[in-house]
This record gives sequence, C-alpha cells and structure tokens, in this order.
Amino acid sequence: MNLKKEKRNALVTGGVTGIGLEVVKELKKEGCLVIANYPPHMKDTAFKVKEHYDVDIAEFDASDYEAVEKAINTITNQYGDIDILVNNAGITKDSFLHKMKIDEWTDVLRINLDSVFNCCRVMLPNMRKNQFGRIINISSVNALKGQVGQTNYCASKAAIIGFTKALALENASKGVTVNAIAPGYVNTDMVKKIDSSILETQILTQIPMNRLAKTIEIASLIRHLIKDESAYLTGQTISINGGMYFN
Ligand code: CAA
Repeated sequence: MNLKKEKRNALVTGGVTGIGLEVVKELKKEGCLVIANYPPHMKDTAFKVKEHYDVDIAEFDASDYEAVEKAINTITNQYGDIDILVNNAGITKDSFLHKMKIDEWTDVLRINLDSVFNCCRVMLPNMRKNQFGRIINISSVNALKGQVGQTNYCASKAAIIGFTKALALENASKGVTVNAIAPGYVNTDMVKKIDSSILETQILTQIPMNRLAKTIEIASLIRHLIKDESAYLTGQTISINGGMYFN
C-alpha cells in the first residue's frame, strides 16, 4: 500500500545555503513540510533562514551517525516520518593529491559520502514501511569527468552514484526511489571560493553556456523528482551542467 499523504515531510541536509536552501524553498512551494538541516557552525545563518523563509531547521552534523540518529528520532516524534530526503551536504577541500593533507581527504569523504549513508540508513526503514520514499543525492559533474585538485571530492561524488544505483535496486519494490543529480558549476559560495582567474580561464571556458548554473535550475528538477507522479524514475544520475559534459 502506497501511503498517500496530504503533506509530505522533507529533510534537506545542508539546507540553509546554496543549492540546499533553494531546494528547501522549492519543496515548500510544492506543499511539503520542509526541515532544513545545518551543521553546528552555521547556527546564525540557519536562524536567519528560519525567520526569513518560515521553514523548520534542525542542527546536526550529518557526517556523525549517532548525531543523525538522535536528531531524526526527535524530528519524527515531532512531525512524523520523513518521506523525502535530499542529501545535499557537501564541502570541497581542493588540493593536488601530492600535496593533500590527510584531513583534507577524510573530511571531504566523511561530509560528502558518510553523511549520505548515515541519513539513508536512519530514514529508510520508515520509508520502506510506509511504501513511499524519495531520496535525491547530490553528486557533481566532476564525479563524471574528473577535475584537477579534486581527487577527494571526485571520489566522494562518484561513490554517491554507485550508492544511488545499488540503493535504487534494493528499494524499487518498496515505493522508494533513489536518484542522483550531477550539477555543473553552480553560482554558490562553494564555487565563488575558486580563485577568480582560475574560474575565468579554466572553468567558464569549459562550459558551452558560458555561465554558472542558477540554484533554481537544480532545485526545480528536484521538485519534479519528489512528486508522487515521479514514481517510475529511479537509479538515475541526471546531469545539469550547461553542456559541460555528456554522460
Ligand atoms: N591541469 C593541469 N595542471 C595544472 C592545472 C590544470 N588545470 N592547473 C594548474 N596546473 C599545474 C600548474 O601549472 C603547476 O605546475 P608546476 O608545479 O609544474 O608549475 C601546478 O599544477 C600547481 O599549480 P598551482 O600552483 O596553481 O596549484 P595550487 O596548488 O595553487 O592550486 C588547485 C591547485 C587548488 C587545484 C587550483 O588550481 C584550483 O582551485 N582549481 C579549481 C578546482 C575546481 O574546479 N574546484 C571545483 C570547486 S566547486 C565544486 O566542486 C562544485 C562542483 O560540484 C562542480
């Protein structure tokens, strides 16, 4: 039985900035009860988002399994089960591998990849029980094409694609779809961190549309994927990259 609900509960990790915040806004427009997760060091930003967009926020470190489990127990007691999970939390710590520090490797893998395991592991049992779930994992164009200075990031984002396919198979008969999005370079703080001369000479020159993506161009696809009517779409990695790379 597919549980048809008036209002779906959605949780977006890293939901108070960048792509995550845009997803939160779109899912709210779609009629979901949306909870924007944020890590402890983003408290100030999170409270501004809560006030400005009138959304619920939840502080937890998505890379810490016990923190996720504790937070989700509290959230489900208050709001009910989570129906839609957008695994968006992610960081970059770019460096050539021969100069990369061990924590630049482990931090990126923990936050970008372990967080996806943690959130899925904690929230899936209820999705399976309810015979409904939508999981969207944010990967990257750089998982598909590689990028100088990003062995850590590319490894984490490519792992997400394999994870997505395996999890889609495991849950295909349970009403739970699992998909990945591979955005190109999006106009967010993460991309603005890149040295402007590198951005202009090495990145923009590789993008046929000659511009960065707008966050809404990513979030509007996610709004489509979470619909009840998107039930037959699973296991896919969907690229949105201005023509930068065709997979
Ligand atoms: N390809 C090959 N070699 C390159 C290169 C390139 N693109 N760019 C520089 N090099 C070479 C240089 O010529 C230099 O060679 P020598 O040592 O022989 O002189 C060497 O590499 C070191 O160059 P730098 O001193 O410039 O290296 P650095 O350590 O200061 O910076 C870097 C390296 C951090 C990778 C920097 O180039 C950079 O920030 N690049 C952009 C990385 C990027 O695109 N990140 C994406 C972030 S956004 C994101 O990830 C979101 C998403 O999903 C798309």
